[in-house]
Amino acid sequence: MALLPLLLPEGITSRNIQTNDLNIHILEAGQTPENNKPLIVLLHGFPEIAYSWRRVLPKLAAAGFYAVAPDQRGFGRTTGWDTRSYEDVDLTTFSLSSLVRDIVLLVHALGYRSVRCIAGHDCGAVSAAMCALMRPDFFQSVVLMSHPFNGPPDLPFDTANADATARSDAVAAGGAGGAEGSAAAGIHDALAELGRKHYKWYYSTKQAGPDMSDLGPDEVHRFLRGYFHLKSGSWPGNRPHPLGKWSAADLTELPGYYIMPLNETMPSTVARDMAHEPSDGLTSESWLPDEELAVYVGEYGRTGFQGGLNWYRVRTAAGGRYTKDFDVFAGKKLEPPCAFVSGKLDWGNYQEPGAIEKMKNGTSCADLRILRFVDGVGHWTPQESPEEVTRAILDLIGGLHD
Ligand SMILES: *[C@@H]1O[C@H](CO)[C@@H](O)[C@H](O)[C@H]1NC(C)=O
Ligand SMILES: *[C@@H]1O[C@H](CO)[C@@H](O)[C@H](O)[C@H]1NC(C)=O
Repeated sequence: MALLPLLLPEGITSRNIQTNDLNIHILEAGQTPENNKPLIVLLHGFPEIAYSWRRVLPKLAAAGFYAVAPDQRGFGRTTGWDTRSYEDVDLTTFSLSSLVRDIVLLVHALGYRSVRCIAGHDCGAVSAAMCALMRPDFFQSVVLMSHPFNGPPDLPFDTANADATARSDAVAAGGAGGAEGSAAAGIHDALAELGRKHYKWYYSTKQAGPDMSDLGPDEVHRFLRGYFHLKSGSWPGNRPHPLGKWSAADLTELPGYYIMPLNETMPSTVARDMAHEPSDGLTSESWLPDEELAVYVGEYGRTGFQGGLNWYRVRTAAGGRYTKDFDVFAGKKLEPPCAFVSGKLDWGNYQEPGAIEKMKNGTSCADLRILRFVDGVGHWTPQESPEEVTRAILDLIGGLHD
């Protein structure tokens, strides 16, 4: 299918970079032939693309940096990833270390041997955190948005010396690669009894891809308009607060787009909540006019959603099957200087209870320097508040020594 124009602001260019196994589409601003400006890499979330950084890229370039936003594996105009069927796709190609490798290869291809700052939003905050965790020498600082880093994996400990009963308890409690596999045990049945289901596990089902992808262009537009609106600062349903613990009862405090009605698809969940919205909420937001939304509609209409959904499958797979690479980092914190900047109206900040606390109290970050919640802003920080995102990045790296 033909590629539509990307409607890029002044100063941003688009090209494809061939690495070992991917042809990575990037948006960039501030490049020089000498590669003499420090590099900043920006990682988008779901259902987004590099385009989500369109208002941040020129600001970073104006501040003297070379800013690059790739379409990550599975998204947008990046090709070369495994597009086989739900059953046949090799999900290890979407593993956490594979996503880090994609960025390390891209940076090398661009002619750089280090990154001044890696910033990530939503599931891109997970890959940014993994970059900083796995290569603190290469990624000199890290900025996370919407998805706080919930810490390294907690492995079964001292099981060799425990008696038999204690040993089986310890094994049952850990070993799921620190991802969401083990935390999930039993919670789905409990949620189902309350008539709800967790979106990450819905996103991992075979039917989620077709539910979201087999739509006409008008339906993709309506779905994405609703999804962006409902998670933004302008939906009155977003009044987030910390949750008590990882339990079904506490999770049901999250809106339908996170803890869905049991019998709905994501598009039908969105349609249900949008039915109560005034019609102007349906048409436009100042940060996402229809002509910009059309870029997302064009890209997801062409690629479908399965590439991005594969990221969720990796993290929810039973027994931590695809997150074993993460076990290597047990006991390790994010070492580079770190910032967390997020919308005050973003429920994503709290969907893993305790994660922000762990960043603040030194359990997951060795050097958290900035923690900011932006007034009036929901989940889409890079789009809703490019000024505050840019400010946090520049404040963090302004405090680094060369
Ligand atoms: C799901 O259940 C609710 C409540 O029973 C009902 O109103 C709704 O139509 C159902 N949705 C679908 C997609 O079946
Ligand atoms: C840090 O916060 C987490 C989550 O609330 C808690 O489990 C942990 O015990 C805390 N650690 C310290 C050292 O305070």
